[in-house]
Amino acid sequence: MFETVVRGGVVLKPLETWHASDFAEHMSRAREHIRPWVGPAFITDTVDGARATLQRYATATAHDGARIYGLWDEGKIIGGAMFVAFDPVWGNCEVGCWLEPDAVGGGLITRSVALLIEWAFVERGMARVEWRCRIDNDRSVAVAQRLRMRSEGVLRSSWVYDGNRYDKEVFSILRAEWMSARPDITQ
Ligand SMILES: CC(C)(COP(=O)(O)OP(=O)(O)OC[C@H]1O[C@@H](n2cnc3c(N)ncnc32)[C@H](O)[C@@H]1OP(=O)(O)O)[C@@H](O)C(=O)NCCC(=O)NCCS
Repeated sequence: MFETVVRGGVVLKPLETWHASDFAEHMSRAREHIRPWVGPAFITDTVDGARATLQRYATATAHDGARIYGLWDEGKIIGGAMFVAFDPVWGNCEVGCWLEPDAVGGGLITRSVALLIEWAFVERGMARVEWRCRIDNDRSVAVAQRLRMRSEGVLRSSWVYDGNRYDKEVFSILRAEWMSARPDITQ
């Protein structure tokens, strides 16, 4: 699987179980920033918890399922992107992402997710890439829109956070839509 420079020396590469202590340190910087917007199982506060997240992904990857990639800036994890779900039999997958607060606003995620989508469609022949987020997650919605994903609708009251329920929006892009106007992922 790829390892590539995303921008300004920041590298995107697979996050593996042995990165648990680096991932736990990153989580201590990212936790409160991402907590409202990601699934609760992704929020951990110990090295064992971080290892459990990475082990879950490693097990799925071994079955050609979900995958997770970290963004490294000078050896420090600052965020990442993942295939939350990956089903090569049906050709459907879902992409997700996160950043620690200091890394927001630099275009790292749009380019990282474009790299994952390109791999899914071109290398793996997937048919559909999905994006799901809380409807009020403006920065996440902006990433989906920048990547020309189309809104497919709202799963009403399906996101629970801090005792409240929120709507979730589903976006997708199909293989033909991506291939007809692929972004220049070399920049
Ligand atoms: C969602 C999240 C990862 C998006 O991060 P982001 O930095 O806004 O997204 P990108 O990395 O693509 O950067 C886009 C920003 O960089 C700017 N940018 C700078 N250079 C850029 C470039 N070369 N290309 C694209 N954008 C660039 C864009 O203008 C945009 O900033 P703006 O919205 O202020 O105009 C981040 O807000 C986050 O971690 N949120 C909490 C966790 C979360 O919501 N995860 C997603 C769950 S569905």
